Amino acid sequence: MSTHAEDDLAASITRESAVAAPAQAPAAPDADRAVASRTRTFDNPRLRKDFADQGAFLYMEDFLAPEVTAQLVHSARALLDEVNRNYLPGHKQGGSVSRHTIDRLAPFIAELYRSKELIGWLEQLSGDKLQVSPADDPHAYALYYYTRPGDHIGWHYDTSYYDGRRYTLLLGVIDESSCRLDYELHTRNPDVPDQPGSVQIPPGGLVFFDGDKLRHRITPAGPNEMRVSLTFEYVTDPNMRPWRRFISNMKDAIAYFGFRQVFRQMTRGNSRGEDRA
Ligand SMILES: [Fe+2]
Repeated sequence: MSTHAEDDLAASITRESAVAAPAQAPAAPDADRAVASRTRTFDNPRLRKDFADQGAFLYMEDFLAPEVTAQLVHSARALLDEVNRNYLPGHKQGGSVSRHTIDRLAPFIAELYRSKELIGWLEQLSGDKLQVSPADDPHAYALYYYTRPGDHIGWHYDTSYYDGRRYTLLLGVIDESSCRLDYELHTRNPDVPDQPGSVQIPPGGLVFFDGDKLRHRITPAGPNEMRVSLTFEYVTDPNMRPWRRFISNMKDAIAYFGFRQVFRQMTRGNSRGEDRA
């Protein structure tokens, strides 16, 4: 039977370890090796067929290596103070951290985004040659936070403003929430009936899709919930026409990252398309 003093001590140790834990960054794994350790165990021909059959969409509940998930969870919590909150009545409420902040404070995420193993595997799935997004596209890699009641995003497509296709890879990072990714397959294909679906993306889970083909939304978070997902964007042609660039920048500034993040590259004299990593 424990005494009050023992209980107090135990509570204090628990509190201290809870406070100390975020400061202890787990060692960053080698991104290529960690991805390959998982992708070589998959039935890739079957996944490729599933992706095609579902109209350029795939969900896997267990994709990332555990050490990668641990690294992402640590980064997501460490970047909470950097979150940019946005509210668009009737469409979107939530927070995000853009690639520019990730580059400064969570470089492992940028390494994972550029992992040749990851890109090669996504190319196998999609059948397309994929490129990373231009350096000033804040969606190239970004963290999305659903931390307040009502945080959500309404039905939309991840429309490509580029000359080519735009693929979205969503990775589950933290899911202490009731949020769901609702989606509809085949909406742009008149020959196949629309097919609705709904998933929760656990930490380490994956959703990969062609942004112009998948109609989707994230349902609203409840009280005391927290959901963080990591999104990677890959393109088949990084060129973007100037008027589309303007629309895309305005959308990103208002709906996602704020004007300072989106237009910082422009104020430095760069323009989208010059730097194709
Ligand atoms: Fe989306």
